Amino acid sequence: MKGVILAGGLGSRLFPLTKVTNKHLLPVYNKPMIFYPLQTLVDAGITEIMLVTGGNNAGDFLRLLGNGSEFGLHDINYTYQVGEGGIAEALKLAEHFAKGDKIVVILGDNIIEGNIIKAVRAFEKQRKGAMILLKEVQDPERFGVAVFKGKRVVKILEKPKKPPSPYAVTGIYFYDNEVFSIAKKLKPSARGELEITDVNNAYIARGTLRHQVLNGWWTDAGTFESLHRANDLVAHGGANKRCL
Ligand code: DAU
Repeated sequence: MKGVILAGGLGSRLFPLTKVTNKHLLPVYNKPMIFYPLQTLVDAGITEIMLVTGGNNAGDFLRLLGNGSEFGLHDINYTYQVGEGGIAEALKLAEHFAKGDKIVVILGDNIIEGNIIKAVRAFEKQRKGAMILLKEVQDPERFGVAVFKGKRVVKILEKPKKPPSPYAVTGIYFYDNEVFSIAKKLKPSARGELEITDVNNAYIARGTLRHQVLNGWWTDAGTFESLHRANDLVAHGGANKRCL
């Protein structure tokens, strides 16, 4: 299985922190944000990795990460997203890298306490389709949210005003190669982006989306509040535990 880290977008919610740098290069406690998702993939045994970035400071990723030797990697593949057309648009850029293989995708601002080894193993055995990782949160309205029928996820709603469950869809996704043909058929959402939630709903419609619940804490870091929380969680293991 190959790994894809999505670190495009303009980070406008963190302006002016992101005026002269990329959001994923900002510090989270003692490391640049991008180190965390990269380490998550490496810890799961993923050795072939593509980083999708964008904006004015894309070259800084190369200066920071090089060939990934500090992470034990032989090399890192890089590609560039023009503009910020959405997570699914960024993912389309990884098609030639995936070359028909299964992929695990992680958003560049997602940080977890534990690891995803079990999920990687489970998806290796899954014959086809996709798998998402869910996490119970106190503020599901900020995320994609799972709608359940019994134990099955029957739909995902993107940032619903009235969340149908407390289960957020984390930014860690597992896909077979169908993801690229699904992504090519997407239409931009009301916020003008190709939505990863629409990709996941397409897999639900095919009956091939599975899910697991992530162990340990999880946070994004794309707003001032969640960036602050990410620092707290990394530094103190979330002494205030607000995100659990
Ligand atoms: O963090 C999990 C959430 O991420 C999910 O629950 C949501 O369903 C999903 O839509 C996404 O929500 P956000 O609106 O918070 O995503 P955001 O626009 O902050 O983008 C998250 C990361 O995705 C960002 O750090 C880099 C990457 N990205 C985003 C965009 C818009 C790209 O690579 N290219 C893009 O154009």
